[in-house]
Amino acid sequence: MNTIEQLKWRYATKKFNPTKKLSKAKINILIEAFNLTATSYGLQTLKLVVVEDKKLREPLVAPAYNQKQVLNASHLLVICIQDNIQSTDVIDYYNNIKHIRNTPETILKPYREDLVNMMQDMSVTERQQWSTNQAYIALGNLMTVCAIEGIDSCPMEGFIASEYDKLLKLNEKGLKSVLLLPVGYRADDDMFSTFKKVRKPIDEAVIIL
Ligand SMILES: Cc1cc2nc3c(=O)[nH]c(=O)nc-3n(C[C@H](O)[C@H](O)[C@H](O)COP(=O)(O)O)c2cc1C
Repeated sequence: MNTIEQLKWRYATKKFNPTKKLSKAKINILIEAFNLTATSYGLQTLKLVVVEDKKLREPLVAPAYNQKQVLNASHLLVICIQDNIQSTDVIDYYNNIKHIRNTPETILKPYREDLVNMMQDMSVTERQQWSTNQAYIALGNLMTVCAIEGIDSCPMEGFIASEYDKLLKLNEKGLKSVLLLPVGYRADDDMFSTFKKVRKPIDEAVIIL
């Protein structure tokens, strides 16, 4: 497997083959990859919602400006943020570190207090923006893993998040949708799959000092 060849193979898939499903094993790879995404402080204020049920997805097409990928893909991945971050999230996180790594309380205490204070100093909007930044990292990670695994995907921020939150009852779970990633296999006649990649020449995009 050549990494650059796989990254050239991937493209923002506009038309999925609605009859080709991802295996459970492939979906599990994406789920694990999401959970292995690096997040600031490791706090993981994100949630991945995997929507397979087509009945649930039919009403999601209109609030995605009629982009059919959300329905025709094998699965729709919805990357969500917590609508708020509480002190208990930070405390739970440090308890998890203590449990997994057996780290002494004396070492963890100052870090936990700093992070609780940092969260308290931010407004709810700032906390949401902070989480949203992490969501984009998860999106990039998932897209790359898809490319390596031969899975087609389409990164999407073109949708009305508040409508998705209502339709998928995300509000009730304390979540807000921020990004979509329909995943599956491209349709044979998706003309976008034949388009050449449009990128700046490397020496315009990169400065080597
Ligand atoms: C954050 C983000 C949001 C995007 N939103 C959409 C979208 O809503 N619908 C869509 O068809 N493509 C969307 N794209 C795909 C881009 O248009 C596409 O990645 C870009 O033109 C480069 O083409 P390529 O990915 O095929 O190489 C999005 C891409 C990113 C990274």
